[in-house]
Parts: sequence; structure tokens; C-alpha cells
Amino acid sequence: SLTTPHQHPSNARPALASADAVSVEELRTPPDADGPVASFDLTAGTERLTLASGASVDAWAFGSVPGPELRVTEGDLVKVTLHNADIAEGVTIHWHGVDLPNGDDGVAGVTQNAVRPGDSFQYRFVAEDPGTYWYHTHQHSAEGVKRGLYGTLVVLPKSGIAEQVDLTLPVHTLGRRVLLGETDEGRTVRVEAGQSVRLRLLNTDQVPRRFRIAGTDFRVVAADARDLTAPTPVESAALRIPAGGRLDIAFTMPDTGVLVTTDASSSASLTLTAGEGAATPQVDPDAPDLDLLHYGRHAGTPAVPDGPLIESTMVLDRLPRFLSGIPREAYTVNGRVFPHIPSLDVREGDTVRLTVVNRGWETHPMHIHGHHVLVLSRNGVAATGSPLRLDTFDVQPGEVWEVLLSADNPGIWMDHCHNLDHAVEGMMMALRYE
Ligand code: C2O
Ligand code: CU
Repeated sequence: SLTTPHQHPSNARPALASADAVSVEELRTPPDADGPVASFDLTAGTERLTLASGASVDAWAFGSVPGPELRVTEGDLVKVTLHNADIAEGVTIHWHGVDLPNGDDGVAGVTQNAVRPGDSFQYRFVAEDPGTYWYHTHQHSAEGVKRGLYGTLVVLPKSGIAEQVDLTLPVHTLGRRVLLGETDEGRTVRVEAGQSVRLRLLNTDQVPRRFRIAGTDFRVVAADARDLTAPTPVESAALRIPAGGRLDIAFTMPDTGVLVTTDASSSASLTLTAGEGAATPQVDPDAPDLDLLHYGRHAGTPAVPDGPLIESTMVLDRLPRFLSGIPREAYTVNGRVFPHIPSLDVREGDTVRLTVVNRGWETHPMHIHGHHVLVLSRNGVAATGSPLRLDTFDVQPGEVWEVLLSADNPGIWMDHCHNLDHAVEGMMMALRYE
């Protein structure tokens, strides 16, 4: 069978790392710091959970599903000790969207071995960029994430955030139920009228999800943990978030109610209410998707760094693969499947203009580890809104995206489709430099 970083045998050595001249240990954050330290322990194990609806699910969990939210402050040295109680397949933690040094990226088979039952591993990184992130296993990740090995990470700015109410809402399909935050049912939270509210919306599923907000206009203040410049008010729009992506929105609580739903479920919802008897607003099911490439005000063209410009193209498709003469479908990059896709080898300081073409019939949410890319254009149309620096972007059937990557974080980084079933079937490659 194909061995990929998503299906790594837990007893093998990290092959790519050991073949490299720079050891992965050299790309780790030292355990000691002068400044503040935020320490956590997470234990992964099998659990039988009872959801709010009464449904029970056999899950793999970091104690709960989602795992505990880790809230830290910009500048903290974050130390997370992962323990594996009884996940026979092994566990790691990947810090999705955190541009940390490579050694703590949590990719089994690349930056570390999977943590076996009874073992542990300490992750360390300095929380440099405020925003909304998530964490998940990167060993058998399609199965592990779907079964519940994920949680959210919030890095608060040193100066605090402007909003008085701050809620995190990951949408996740767990077995036959859909969780919005911790619950598969409607949840109501009391908020005083006039208070400012931030909602952190995350999609931890395999396919795009739409969030709909009713009862207030709002601004999209951040995408993938990067603030948008001069976000303008949105009256009515659906927020389509790629698998793995995050959007933060902000608004002032009206004196009635605000309703948050997703297209993943009609039962999991969040209602914010300013008082007893406040009317529940109606969701507009016809509201169009907000196009982030043309949202907000452009603050001038972001500077393209000096230095060598490398051109690279990734053509995404689905092609037959022949295994012992029996064809089955594979998800390909440039006609090949991982690990047979040549890595993109660059040098530190290079700028890479990456063109991603989707020739298939399914959406591919491309995720780049360790970097945010600046979106230049889609289908030849330049992005005109607030500059978008994303770690996950949806390339829909027929689309062509052009993004710019600054090679400023050496290591071996996986780039892959975050529909994790597609990643397992080959849609994954490495970016590498020392
Ligand atoms: Cu969120 Cu390689 O993963
Ligand atoms: Cu895909």
C-alpha cells in the first residue's frame, strides 16, 4: 500500500527528514524562553461520546470533540505535550495555519514519528501571529480528523482584541451528526445589545461549508489568521469557507437576535439573543457567496519581494491508477500521486509564483504548510480587495489560481488537498529548502 505522510507506519523512521542534510532537530524551538510560557497537555484516546441530541458516537478525541480550545497570547512560548492513550494507529498534532519552525509541524513521516500508545511528544512554538487556527492529527489524518482528533487554537494580540464577546465556531461532521462548536443542536448565548462581537468561523470538514449570518450586518475582519485591511460592512452574503479555512467576522450586537447556521446541518446553529422574547431572524437562503478576492479596500499593491522569482505549476486532476492491473481513481498533481510527485525545491529567500489549475470535477482546498501565500489572481482576474494571505484556498473545478509564496521558513513542508480523502489518494507534495 502507498505510504504517505497521512498514512505513516508508526514504527518507521521519518525518511525524508533523515535523508536531509539539516536535521529536523535543528528546526525546532528551544524549550526555554525568557518570556511567558503557555503549557498544555492533550491526551488522544478512543471515547464513546454522547452528543447534545442524545446521539452517541465512537470518536477519537483529545478529551472532547472538538478538543479543548487553546487560547494563548502573541509572544507566548506555547508548549503542548501530546499523549497517546490508546490510538493504535498513532497520533501527531499539526498546527494548521501556524507558520512555525518545521520541526514542530507534526507531520508523521516527515518531521517526526507518529506517537504510539503510551508515548508522548512535546510541541513548542512561539505564537507570533494573532488569529484563528486549528490543530489536528497528521497521522492517518483523513480517518483521525473525521473521527474527532481536532481542536481550535486562538492567538490573541498582545494588546487584546477590540471585541467584547469572542466565540469560536468550528463546523465538523462527526459520524452522522454535525457539530457547530461543541454541539449538534441549537445553542443560545445571551449578549447585551450594543456589545461588539467577534465570531471565529472554521471549517474542519472535507468539503466547503457555507456559514449564513442573519439579523445583523458584519465585517470580515480576518481570513486564515491574517487581518483584512479596511473591511467593509456586508449586509447579506453566505461565507463559503474551504475545508481547513477560517474567517473571523465582527459586528455590534443588535437589540434583537443574530442567528448563525451552516449548510452542513439544519439542526446545529447558534443564536445570540439580546433578551427574552427577541425575535429570531430569518436566514436568507439565496444570499450570494461573498467573493473575498474583491472584498474590502485594497491598500495599494502589496510589495512583491526582491530576489529570484521561481515559477511553478500544479495541475490537479483525478486519473485512473493501476494497482495490480486493477484501475482505481487517484488524485493527482501534474499527473502523478504522492510520493511520486517531485518536490518543489527552492532556496531560502526565493519568491515562488505558484499557478494552481484544477482540471477535475471536484473542489480542491489546497493547503500549504508553514507559509501563507498572497493571492494574486483567479482565472486571470487580479484580486482587487484587501490583500489575502491564505494558508488554505479552494480551487474549484476549472479554476486557475495564481499565488505568491515567500520562501522564508526552511524545512520540508507538505502542500496538499485538505479534502483529506483526496490527500490520501495522492494529492500531496512537498516544498523543500534548507
Ligand atoms: Cu490541516 Cu497537512 O493539514
Ligand atoms: Cu481535493
